[in-house]
Amino acid sequence: SWTTGNVIEEQVEAIRAQVGDKRAICGLSGGVDSAVAAALVQKAIGSQLTCVYVDHGLMRKGETEQVEKDFVAATGANLKVVDASERFLNALAGVSDPETKRKIIGREFIRVFEQAQLEILQEDGPEVAFLVQGTLYPDIVESGGGTGTANIKSHHNVGGLPDDIEFELVEPLRQLFKDEVRMVGAELGLPDEIVQRQPFPGPGLGIRIVGEVTKDRLDLLREADAIAREELTAAGLDREIWQCPVVLLADVRSVGVQGDGRTYGHPIVLRPVSSEDAMTADWTRMPYEVLARISTRITNEVADVNRVVLDVTSKPPGTIEWE
Ligand code: XMP
Repeated sequence: SWTTGNVIEEQVEAIRAQVGDKRAICGLSGGVDSAVAAALVQKAIGSQLTCVYVDHGLMRKGETEQVEKDFVAATGANLKVVDASERFLNALAGVSDPETKRKIIGREFIRVFEQAQLEILQEDGPEVAFLVQGTLYPDIVESGGGTGTANIKSHHNVGGLPDDIEFELVEPLRQLFKDEVRMVGAELGLPDEIVQRQPFPGPGLGIRIVGEVTKDRLDLLREADAIAREELTAAGLDREIWQCPVVLLADVRSVGVQGDGRTYGHPIVLRPVSSEDAMTADWTRMPYEVLARISTRITNEVADVNRVVLDVTSKPPGTIEWE
């Protein structure tokens, strides 16, 4: 019969058989799937696993710390954190177009991750032959099935490595659905903040700033987003709401009055949606009192924001994210 205990036991055995005494690498994104996959592999092979987390500086408040502290505390995994926030900010300077932002973030991410992989390959120890991925059952069905390998190409500035290194994939979640992955993660001791995390786009807050991405704007949006998340959780709405992007309209200003003066600040958009699979979504009819609390707190606590607006568009026609 299906129990999380059985799944864990089976997968631990399978992973040990597959990896043997070689080493494996796992990229952590801050999301549920990669965290649970890494925790399972860690349980199976311990110090033969190295996890890599690329901090692109576009995460929400507390999320990098969740990986650096809570994930490591719960699993005991070896974690290599690469702080690349400066690099991402530089690459994004002057860019406002959403698709260009996505391309830049994706490109820089792969470069930083591959560099980290090469550094791990150069460490002393058994051969690094495996790459762990948090592929779920629905991902496999959608992409037509099949297990695979992944290549990384060595960079010109790194000497002494073969031109092309091939990893075999370890995909311990390939038989599981999302809710099962959450149960397995909880059983493995991962905290709720990781296991129950709502979907968050890979490009992070970079695509929730309409306009150019700068450090100041990221800091501002991080504060507004943290307030919204705190109030939604306090109101017990985390399960009802699929996700609630908080968006900064960085190129828009409106007139306001605060204290004894006129302000000319930015609007923050709240985008709470209800959905089954993110393909379609409806805007969530959430309680006015909660909206009021979020609005009051954001305008009081976040400098340069003087207006909070609610997005009441379904998908279609609006996408969940603004970019
Ligand atoms: P949209 O905005 O297309 O979003 O309605 C659908 C779901 O996908 C997430 N999303 C992304 N996830 N990289 C990701 O990993 C992306 O570039 C990206 N864009 C959107 C979004 O948060 C929602 O859950």
